[in-house]
Amino acid sequence: MSGAAAGHIRSLLSELGRFLGENNVMGIDHPQAPARVGMHVSEVATPALMVDLDAMMTNIAVMRALCASYEVRLRPHAKAHKSLDIARHQIQAGAVGLCCQTLTEAEIFVAGGIGDVLISNEIIDRGKLDRVAALARRANIGICVDDEEQVVRLAEAAERFAARIEVMLEIDVGQGRCGVGSVDEALRLAASIRRYPSLALRGLQAYHGKAQHFRSALKRNEAIAKAAHFAATVRSALQLAGFPVGIISGGGTGTCALECASAIYNEIQPGSYALMDADYALNESPPPFRQALTLATTVVSVAVRGQVVVDAGYKAFAVDSGWPVPVRPDLSVLGMSDEHTVLCQSADDPIRLGHQIRFVPRHIDPTVNLHDWIVGYRGVRVEMVWPVSARGPGL
Ligand SMILES: Cc1ncc(COP(=O)(O)O)c(C=O)c1O
Repeated sequence: MSGAAAGHIRSLLSELGRFLGENNVMGIDHPQAPARVGMHVSEVATPALMVDLDAMMTNIAVMRALCASYEVRLRPHAKAHKSLDIARHQIQAGAVGLCCQTLTEAEIFVAGGIGDVLISNEIIDRGKLDRVAALARRANIGICVDDEEQVVRLAEAAERFAARIEVMLEIDVGQGRCGVGSVDEALRLAASIRRYPSLALRGLQAYHGKAQHFRSALKRNEAIAKAAHFAATVRSALQLAGFPVGIISGGGTGTCALECASAIYNEIQPGSYALMDADYALNESPPPFRQALTLATTVVSVAVRGQVVVDAGYKAFAVDSGWPVPVRPDLSVLGMSDEHTVLCQSADDPIRLGHQIRFVPRHIDPTVNLHDWIVGYRGVRVEMVWPVSARGPGL
């Protein structure tokens, strides 16, 4: 292992151990935490991510039932919540492991005791690949590839660490991001993976994220049918050439019922379902999950007549999918700036200073990543204060 990689892992683990030791309890008493267990939800310091624990647990149970009914493995994507505590609930509810999108996420979840992680992404940097190999000595680690150069570098790292790494050959089933686009390329890549005893071809990564947000149910159906057809074609060709393809993995919250029903996918990797965001509610036939996550804000100004200003803006909400949606139907967003959102109120009953206003974020993953804490509540009482364990861009 390179000295830099070893040092990075050591400092990450010691920092995480310290952080979890101090904080990973139900009743955090951390000076910067926005809430304490037992507090009334109206007393939470804002802006704060608020999770309705009953809704979250229902979502986790619904996903478990969906997967069980199709005998499909569930590997939730942890990039959505970045929370070790939520991940543990998902594992307890039958998930076979987690997906992570960054190596840092994977390191943090493994340090927290998750034994099976798929890095659903490509990595090319040699220092990072050393960290992947080091991690594979401690847990079952899978990673995606779509190029021979990644395979060569991954194998070199695995050999340096005497590690065995599982490889998902990524195919482009419509996402247009990563993944090979033809059977011939898949065959060539599988052949290069087979050259290295330190690598084991686990299966195909076949994720079509764009389809999740197609508003039309028919369009989503067609897109996933096409994705499944291509995955099945690649699998047949690989099997005919003697390559094992145990797993076909993909699917997110917006389409996972389709991947489950396809009879081709045998693993799904939804992330947002546990907490949910406002975007999926815009789909025709939206997925059957409850809105568990809201962002609590406080009214800090009513000085301009007809306007209400709250204490959260672009630094608290990701707006790549649009402005957040106020939970109260009489409010609508007029504009946002870094630390403020300005609303107008259609009803007559004026909102007072200090009033708490909740919003549903449009896109959960980048919104959660802006925060250090998740406040879990039941009814009007705070029950949990969880750190956003894997917060950050991911190195
Ligand atoms: C590779 C991969 N799998 C699964 C997901 C999960 O999607 P969602 O959070 O919409 O369920 C994502 C999300 O971006 C992803 O990139």
